[in-house]
Amino acid sequence: MNATVNAASSHGAPMAPRRWRVHERRAETADTVTIVIVPDDPSQAIDPPRPGQFAMLSAWGAHEIPVSYSAVEPSIEHTVRSVGPASEAVFELRVGDPLGVRGPFGTGWDLGVTDDRDVVVVAGGIGLAPLRPLVRALVDDDAARGRTSVLIGARTPAEVCFGAEIAEWSERGLTVEVTVDAAVPTTGPRWHGRVGLVTRLLDLVDVDPRRTTAFVCGPEVMMRASVHALGQRGVGAESILVSGERNMKCAIGHCGHCQLGGQLLCRDGAVMPASILGPLMAVREL
Ligand SMILES: Cc1cc2nc3c(=O)[nH]c(=O)nc-3n(C[C@H](O)[C@H](O)[C@H](O)COP(=O)(O)OP(=O)(O)OC[C@H]3O[C@@H](n4cnc5c(N)ncnc54)[C@H](O)[C@@H]3O)c2cc1C
Ligand code: FES
Repeated sequence: MNATVNAASSHGAPMAPRRWRVHERRAETADTVTIVIVPDDPSQAIDPPRPGQFAMLSAWGAHEIPVSYSAVEPSIEHTVRSVGPASEAVFELRVGDPLGVRGPFGTGWDLGVTDDRDVVVVAGGIGLAPLRPLVRALVDDDAARGRTSVLIGARTPAEVCFGAEIAEWSERGLTVEVTVDAAVPTTGPRWHGRVGLVTRLLDLVDVDPRRTTAFVCGPEVMMRASVHALGQRGVGAESILVSGERNMKCAIGHCGHCQLGGQLLCRDGAVMPASILGPLMAVREL
């Protein structure tokens, strides 16, 4: 697993937010936006974060929230779903608006474990955002392309993010399947694709479980179901990487807010093998 806090890119003061601003803003769905951000002071540019790492973002007047990188190069992007006051404040940012940024933090997806392996990426809802830099790396990798399946679930057709890019992944040789929980959208065009839980898409992929690595991100209930379904197909829990979610404050292993069992998610995760995180996720209220 990778190192924890990228202190160099936090300029040696990991608790001090740096001032960045929104360079570009793209609406993904009615409540989700992708922002491309740049440092106000170009001398504070950072090395590309690792796929799966996260930053602490704060829009003016709101508290900080952990948000994964949805792109790490050539631009730094975050994709945020508005679910409460702080995420709404980030959602409402417009081009040119400032925001506070700390990070990158966390372990990230370990791309090294994909060598000579079948790869299954399972994403639920906004969980596709943290997985997007990983999928981008896989689609650029000649050796990985033909061995990679990306399974995406969303509640409704209108909630599928990165639509054009998903089509491009498929055109470039990844096996991509998208499913929605409800086929009849209240707005937008009628859905002619697959309907049902994302775990059912696992029936469509042909992998050798003994040499498969899976990457899973989404709501906790979906991650638990995915780990279980992959396990039933013979994929070992140590070969399934999941991204855990807990409230975070410091993001540098000091405050204990993100503790899950003996793990601090900000320091030891948020990406961890299901062999470690799975049993902890199974215990509610931990
Ligand atoms: C490591 C990590 C990476 C994350 N990456 C992303 C990301 O890339 N994009 C993103 O949009 N969010 C991401 N999140 C979740 C994000 O941090 C929360 O949505 C945010 O903290 C909510 O703060 P708030 O003040 O807006 O809402 P709160 O007031 O804290 O919550 C409002 C309501 O939404 C619920 N809620 C909180 N989080 C979520 C959630 N993730 N999904 C659905 N309901 C939720 C709460 O239970 C509450 O009922 C990540 C979280 C972690 C720990
Ligand atoms: S957020 Fe403070 S210890 Fe993890």
